[in-house]
Amino acid sequence: MKLAIPKETAEGEARVAASPETVKKLLGLGLEVTVEAGAGAGSAISDDHYAEAGASIAPDSGAALNDADIVFKVGAPDAEQRARMRRGAVLVALLNPLGRKEDAAAYAAAGIDAFAMELVPRISRAQSMDALSSQSNLAGYKAVLDAAGEYHRVLPMMMTAAGSIAPARVFVMGVGVAGLQAIATARRLGAIVSATDVRPATKEQVESLGAKFVMVESEETAAAETAGGYAREMSEDYKRRQAELIAETIARQDIVITTALIPGRPAPTLVTEDMVKTMRAGSVINDLAVEAGGNCPLSEPGKVVVKHGITLIGYTNVPSRVAEDASLLYARNLLAFLTPLIDGETGTLKIDWEDEIVQGACLTRDGAVVHPLLKEEGA
Ligand code: NAI
Repeated sequence: MKLAIPKETAEGEARVAASPETVKKLLGLGLEVTVEAGAGAGSAISDDHYAEAGASIAPDSGAALNDADIVFKVGAPDAEQRARMRRGAVLVALLNPLGRKEDAAAYAAAGIDAFAMELVPRISRAQSMDALSSQSNLAGYKAVLDAAGEYHRVLPMMMTAAGSIAPARVFVMGVGVAGLQAIATARRLGAIVSATDVRPATKEQVESLGAKFVMVESEETAAAETAGGYAREMSEDYKRRQAELIAETIARQDIVITTALIPGRPAPTLVTEDMVKTMRAGSVINDLAVEAGGNCPLSEPGKVVVKHGITLIGYTNVPSRVAEDASLLYARNLLAFLTPLIDGETGTLKIDWEDEIVQGACLTRDGAVVHPLLKEEGA
């Protein structure tokens, strides 16, 4: 069977869906691997690196895709790539299934069996496949470095002959995978760190990283976490009380990193324009939720802007800003996902359609949209 890795076509996407390491392991599963020329360039992986690992290099995406049985991608294929894939091919990528619901019908019409890495269930058996975690972790790290880069002061306390410098105060809002790494990174840089989340389970995690937890505790927060470990949308009363506490806290911060997301819904507004106005000029807000509508209404996707004297960072696709590591980890996530779907003896696909991970990630099969999240809404 042939597995293809075409070049990413989305603007600003520097990641790639395979590394020389995973190419070798894919060959070990009995697959043939074809990489489109230049696919790894954004991640400093040359065609020669892939060829040395045993992949063949295709001159363009058509040549890579047209007889591929399995296609690995970072983001969703564009319409041209989709049209070049053959009926019955398996596609595995970060397909943004809830943000791009219309794509599922197109995969079904093209006879592509599409699997969305975002929907791999977060069970222990699937930890090595968890691309949301591998990428969010890097985004949380890079978010702190990006904020530190825009901040025209230093983060650690410094005692110098010319006098002392006070440490910066960093506030992390939303303590999922990205938030936890942001806390750890800001602590390593010597900042005084505090953090907030609606899920009470995060309190202990925040404190174990040496940061202070800031939260309105109520009966509602006890039920703020879904069975899957995600946040629910909170009531208006809770949001008002949380906003008051946050407003007091934010006025004293130098750097605010926001990461709060609610799956399938717009990101909650956590930092209002009035709150921004209370911050000291020169402070920095890095809104990692900007692509989901933003945790601060003043941040702008893809831009760094200054408003009310505050620098607002709104980079999209932050994992791509650390593309080399992001690609290496994502490539391993894909390998871990595919390995149980391949029959070790014959090197062909042998998918257990009853498996929880397969069912969780599968959007389309045999020309039909099969995922409950997409079927219910008639997509
Ligand atoms: P996410 O990216 O969906 O959201 C980021 C954070 O924002 C979450 O912690 C969420 O609670 C928080 N948030 C949402 N609304 C908020 C509000 N109004 N105010 C403050 N914070 C708000 O989260 P991520 O990183 O995907 O993690 C979600 C859950 O999945 C966590 O419980 C995490 O521990 C769990 N997880 C489990 C794994 C496993 O068991 N294999 C692997 C990775 C994560």
